[in-house]
Amino acid sequence: MIGMNANLSTHKLRAGMVGMGMIFDETYRPFFEQAHREGVYRRDFGLLDIELSAVASRTGSRAVKYRKEAGGKIAPFVSFAGADASQKLLAHGVDAVCVATPDDRHFESARLAIEAGKHVLIEKPSVLTLQELDTLDQLARKHNVLAKVVYHKLGDPDHKKLHTHYVDGNFQHVNNGYCTLLEPKSISGSQFAEWIQGRNPGTYVAVHYIKLIDFTFGSLAGRASDGKTDPSLARPANWRLARITCNGQRGIVGPASGNTWDSVQLQITYAYPDGREAAFDIHTSWVTPDNFPGYVDQEVQFRFDNGVWTAHQRKRGVEMTIEKRTPGELKITPNHHYNGSFLEPWGERSQRGYGIEIIRKFFEEVAYVEFAGPPALRAERLQTMRGLTYNDVSADRNTVAIVQAMEAILERQAKGEPAGVVEVNGSRGGLVLLTPGRTEAAVLYAPRV
Ligand SMILES: NC(=O)c1ccc[n+]([C@@H]2O[C@H](COP(=O)([O-])OP(=O)(O)OC[C@H]3O[C@@H](n4cnc5c(N)ncnc54)[C@H](O)[C@@H]3O)[C@@H](O)[C@H]2O)c1
Repeated sequence: MIGMNANLSTHKLRAGMVGMGMIFDETYRPFFEQAHREGVYRRDFGLLDIELSAVASRTGSRAVKYRKEAGGKIAPFVSFAGADASQKLLAHGVDAVCVATPDDRHFESARLAIEAGKHVLIEKPSVLTLQELDTLDQLARKHNVLAKVVYHKLGDPDHKKLHTHYVDGNFQHVNNGYCTLLEPKSISGSQFAEWIQGRNPGTYVAVHYIKLIDFTFGSLAGRASDGKTDPSLARPANWRLARITCNGQRGIVGPASGNTWDSVQLQITYAYPDGREAAFDIHTSWVTPDNFPGYVDQEVQFRFDNGVWTAHQRKRGVEMTIEKRTPGELKITPNHHYNGSFLEPWGERSQRGYGIEIIRKFFEEVAYVEFAGPPALRAERLQTMRGLTYNDVSADRNTVAIVQAMEAILERQAKGEPAGVVEVNGSRGGLVLLTPGRTEAAVLYAPRV
């Protein structure tokens, strides 16, 4: 029997997709196909039809290929290509826009979409500077829409459990840790060859762990002094970002003296009010051999006053070998939690995982704002969804600050001035770059971070 409060209305959200590359294929495509097949239902907003209405990309070739392959798995969609593809997509009429272009092109597409009054979901990293982040956040407030970022690692069950333990006070006071994420050479050599010039693997993948650290250990909002969680005690994190430094290597993807990086070691330091500090090292690369046993090597370790947490995102217990197929086409140590395709016990083929769930969550948030109650209370619902710090752009400040600092330090290193450090919220400004041998400080961002 249907409960008294069930919402039986049917609503529709038209989605626009900007960028149809690897991540579209891995996570957005399975989500849109699933939503097309089954709809999305929640008692508070009712039955939701989500339709991929329009896509925008550079050449349009992948859209043509996808349309052909998808057959009836998706409703007909319009494809726009070329320099003004995003504008055409917006003019076509969509309610929400997903931006999955290369990271140095997120800002422009996201800005246009928000200005057109669309809810926006941006792939990580959201944008590359705090100036851009401020603009998107201000525009989202002005146009009363959501602006959110995809950080799917927060949805990994192991990371959710780490966060739960920390908020519940089982792990107390994080002091330091390391994270590593190594991508295969095929990423830098072929997948991203078109846009890799001047880029680095830190911006591309360290952001996953920057966000994990900043969110997991910085979100002690709601934790009472006895370690129990009390949402009514919501308060800002009790630590602050203090310093960022990094180092990088070149010579494989591009020349040893150029500005395209093979690997990056980043260190971020936070300060607690009592003078103690916490520091984290994040190592990234996109030149690991393609015959590596897992697609990406991902590992973390965090040390607390009273414990240690170590997690391996690919060695989760499965190890397999198939003659002539591993580790090329199939991997020896696969991660089935992120995004796996399965034959369910009931005979159905499925593709599921936290990489897909996190996209569904965004559409649920949009549906909550638009449909989960009377229009007069929309502003309140919008505010509630904005308050979700795991994905709102307003809560992405530290992550973007670290990316901006890392890129500025690498730019200096490429000019022959290595070993820079960026000071956060010091007397000279919000983000201030200092390099040995230079007396003057460069202010990257003047307001407080
Ligand atoms: N969440 C994750 O784990 C994850 C994994 C991979 C990539 N990403 C992110 O997704 C984004 C895209 O990565 P990818 O691997 O899909 O890249 P890709 O190179 O495979 O695809 C990029 C797509 O963007 C399109 N494009 C480029 N410039 C455009 C423009 N100005 N307007 C419209 N379309 C444009 C291209 O035509 C292509 O379809 C990046 O921000 C990346 O960091 C996230």
